[in-house]
Amino acid sequence: MANAPLKRQPLAFADWSGSEYAAMAGSLLRGRVHQGPNPALLKQRLAQVYAPSEVHLVNYGHHAIEIALNAFKCQRPERVEVIVPAYICPSVVQAVAACGLRVRSVDVQTDLNLAPADVQAALNADTLAVIAPHMYGCPARILEIEALCDAANVFLIDDAAQVVGVQQDGRLLGTFGDVGVISFAQSKTIVSGIRGSGGVLLVNRPALADQLREACASLPAASGRLGPWADFLWNHVGHVYTGNSGYYLSRVLTALGREPPVAAPAMRISHLEAGIALAQLGRLDALVAEKVRISEAYHRAVQACPHLEFPQFAPGRFLARVMLLLPEGADLDDVRREALSFGVETRTGYSAFVSPGAQASQAQAMEQRLLGVPCRPGMTQGDVEAVCAVLDASIPGAVRR
Ligand SMILES: Cc1ncc(COP(=O)(O)O)c(C=O)c1O
Repeated sequence: MANAPLKRQPLAFADWSGSEYAAMAGSLLRGRVHQGPNPALLKQRLAQVYAPSEVHLVNYGHHAIEIALNAFKCQRPERVEVIVPAYICPSVVQAVAACGLRVRSVDVQTDLNLAPADVQAALNADTLAVIAPHMYGCPARILEIEALCDAANVFLIDDAAQVVGVQQDGRLLGTFGDVGVISFAQSKTIVSGIRGSGGVLLVNRPALADQLREACASLPAASGRLGPWADFLWNHVGHVYTGNSGYYLSRVLTALGREPPVAAPAMRISHLEAGIALAQLGRLDALVAEKVRISEAYHRAVQACPHLEFPQFAPGRFLARVMLLLPEGADLDDVRREALSFGVETRTGYSAFVSPGAQASQAQAMEQRLLGVPCRPGMTQGDVEAVCAVLDASIPGAVRR
């Protein structure tokens, strides 16, 4: 494929408007990074959205999962296994292991979510809980999973880490099962930063409310948030000009003989990041509508690209990221390199997690073939078509149109 000058198509990590920057500036100018009124305001606002579920704010979604699993463990200490999808954010698997529980993977469908029948088949006398995410915002069949968890007397975590304000079967995602989880990390629906910028534990079952309220009330105050905030801002605003901060950070740390930063322990959300999340929540309808518009633009563009599919698409569906499926046998790294030479940034999805004795052929196939494409706010149909045309032509054997 001969290189031709094309408009750069960068990835985006968040959809921020002036109100997010104003919230940020307000916190910084008052010298209030960690403590202030924003967490209480955010909690109040989310409680209105998710009522009657109780809302607790933490720093990471996966810490919300740990807090819930530890509460479940107290109630049923004889049960030691947690079911997760084989296509999942690694921090979820780490959260289960951190609670001293065994992780059991169950393969996913082409929409990257668990199928109720596969969850049913995996349930056994050791099953403590099921974690059911809505991968990249695509809703899982959560009502059916809730019914079978209830029937088996197994706890259910409705993992809505990537999706806020979207309903399924007349209920908001995150409100099914015993608890729900939301994350405010980059590339989610609401983005307040990275590395511990915020998460939510939704308590959907009143019987768990006292225990989980107490666990969340004992969390330490937010600390150490300026570094991740600056890092996020660099990537969000500057990565197009400078490249990703991770590259510079790792060089500096290597030069100083220091290890890369590890995930912070569970703590409360900071005033600074709660303020950004509040601004995002105030624009929720617009954030969701823009992602729906971009997905629909990709759906239209993919029709003209014989090598590309968009397996999670449905009309009107919110997706936090657009993940396109390349043909079997295409080399992701080669395609990414070729696309980048035409200015199109891409990213890979998650690696499949396969627990001992399990099989996950679908998750493993998807890991090899899925590519995240730019879904920046304001992208035009022409931008989306340009991205798809470059990708389609980057597949070996394809002819550039
Ligand atoms: C489905 C899912 N659950 C949980 C998490 C964990 O969220 P956090 O990064 O806030 O810990 C993620 C993060 O990407 C996720 O995608």
